[in-house]
Amino acid sequence: MNDIFGDWKRSHYCGMVTAAQIGQEVCLTGWVQRRRDHGGLIFIDLRDREGIVQLALDPDRDPEAHTKADRVRNEYVVAIKGIVSPRPAGTVNPKMKTGEVEVEVREMRILNTAKTPPFMLDEFTEVAENIRLKYRYLDLRRPAIQQNLMLRYQVTRTVRRYLDAEGFLDIETPVLTKSTPEGARDYLVPSRVNPGTFYALPQSPQLFKQLLMVSGFDRYFQIVKCFRDEDLRADRQPEFTQIDCEMSFVGRDDVIAVMEGMIAAIFKETIGVAVPLPMPRMTYAEALDRFGVDNPDLRFDLELVGLSDLVEGCGFKVFADAVAGGGQVKAINVKGGASLSRKELDDLTEFVKIYGAKGMAWVKMTEEGWQSPIAKFFSADELAAINQRLGAELGDLLLFGADSYKVVNESLGRLRGHLGHKLGLAKKDEYRFVWVTDFPLLEWDAEARRHVAVHHPFTAPMDEDLALLDSDPGKARAKAYDLVLNGSEIGGGSIRIHDQAIQSRMFDLMGIGEEEARMKFGFLLDALEFGAPPHGGIAFGLDRLTMILTGSDSIRDVIAFPKTQKATCLMSEAPGEVDEKQLRELAIRTVTRAK
Ligand code: AMO
Ligand code: AMP
Repeated sequence: MNDIFGDWKRSHYCGMVTAAQIGQEVCLTGWVQRRRDHGGLIFIDLRDREGIVQLALDPDRDPEAHTKADRVRNEYVVAIKGIVSPRPAGTVNPKMKTGEVEVEVREMRILNTAKTPPFMLDEFTEVAENIRLKYRYLDLRRPAIQQNLMLRYQVTRTVRRYLDAEGFLDIETPVLTKSTPEGARDYLVPSRVNPGTFYALPQSPQLFKQLLMVSGFDRYFQIVKCFRDEDLRADRQPEFTQIDCEMSFVGRDDVIAVMEGMIAAIFKETIGVAVPLPMPRMTYAEALDRFGVDNPDLRFDLELVGLSDLVEGCGFKVFADAVAGGGQVKAINVKGGASLSRKELDDLTEFVKIYGAKGMAWVKMTEEGWQSPIAKFFSADELAAINQRLGAELGDLLLFGADSYKVVNESLGRLRGHLGHKLGLAKKDEYRFVWVTDFPLLEWDAEARRHVAVHHPFTAPMDEDLALLDSDPGKARAKAYDLVLNGSEIGGGSIRIHDQAIQSRMFDLMGIGEEEARMKFGFLLDALEFGAPPHGGIAFGLDRLTMILTGSDSIRDVIAFPKTQKATCLMSEAPGEVDEKQLRELAIRTVTRAK
């Protein structure tokens, strides 16, 4: 043996030493969390990925104890041999896995030194995220984030086991590929060998997994990186991971049944939560009507209630005009919300304005009835009817939206989600799933002046809506489904078009000409003519799912090396400049030079 660790061999992880080892000699390795001198005794907290154990050095027994301890600093890498002993009465720490024991150090080797880290690696110190991301390898030593990544691994392990048992094959698809339309911008990679041409990094393996069905692989899955150049938010990354699946000879209910089984297995394995199956379902139309959004958080009520029929022609112009103009009036009843301050109501009004609302009328239910700037516009009968519809009682707060269908749904729907969190109605350890189904097939893109696919252009229309493709395409519904958990879209998929004629018709409706369709997806169109089986599938966002399982507020806390909101890596400093030579080889000239 010539390495510093020599003839030693680790016997246990630090975090795994328990009362079961009392009296035994153990050999441990890890990082020094901290060192404490307690008069006579010296303690060192030694940390590895499984946890922390307390080492004790006793100068009475070992005259070298102080010399040994003085050599170590925080984050030094050390190996020790020692005897496990019970902690003296009164010093047991029931909060630690190893809290009943300590290890009396007999021998210690320093395997490496460490500079003073830029921040404390414990769970209590708040550190600015840009510092954490710059020194991500140190941040990743922190127990909380290690646990997130370990749980993430448990998710993928469960997925592989479950899908294997269900007969799915893991097949890789290319990363250097052509654009897949999932609605975001592509990341492009220039080709050196074919100057002036570019690969696109996949926004998803959508086209390839459909081709695998044409090839007869029947049940496919892949845990796969996807790349989307879009505006980033707390639950979005430019590169993220999907649990991507596709199946042949199935309808929507088959896909849903297999997949909810997988989600239930994940919850059982990782956090021990039993998810009741089958999961509830709701149509897109119902979701919008009751919750204003297509990703409703079902942990709390606060439903949107339609009032258009009651306020049509009423004395409050804002409401009457909205209905007359083809829009709607809806309200939510915040139970006990009358105690909100004027300032809080103003903040809520600002909040709905983000989503296009022009204002937010409010009513506090008091002993004297409506306390509200708009009370004077309504007759006693109208007040009574509105109160009854909303179930308004003393102490409630009623919030109204009047505008187009879209603006009212979106602004009140988001307000509902916002209030659910603000008022503590959304419990972190409650998990409410819902499959949202029957999405519209197409939506009108006013800017591009054409229809675009709501899910993606390969999604099949509902059979009973096929005729609508000719008469009123905007009304046609799709065989598409999303899985929503606590208000977050964790997965989405559809039954696909396996008929070339319908696929061409869809491109037509989306204003994608034959030539453009051939150029972009000619290979898929060809493949559909060579015996494509009926097929469908889904992809789950692994990062989003793990976020919820770990109770994280940011997607970055469940990704080992995430990007910032500006799509940069603060540690490696990607993206970076490249030399002129490299650009010349790629036949690329840039117009902007980085600063
Ligand atoms: P979709 O675009 O709905 O469907 O993506 C599937 C799931 O991936 C997650 N997701 C993201 N997670 C983190 N960062 C992002 N930027 C991001 N974008 C999406 C979401 C979403 O539900 N090919 C289809 C699937 C199919 O039809 O089978 C697809 O990609 O949780
Ligand atoms: P106004 O008559 O404009 O002062 O508005 C009276 C109340 O109605 C205020 O509380 C406004 O915030 C609210 N309000 C204005 N426009 C709308 C709207 N489109 N939807 C709901 N409430 C509105």
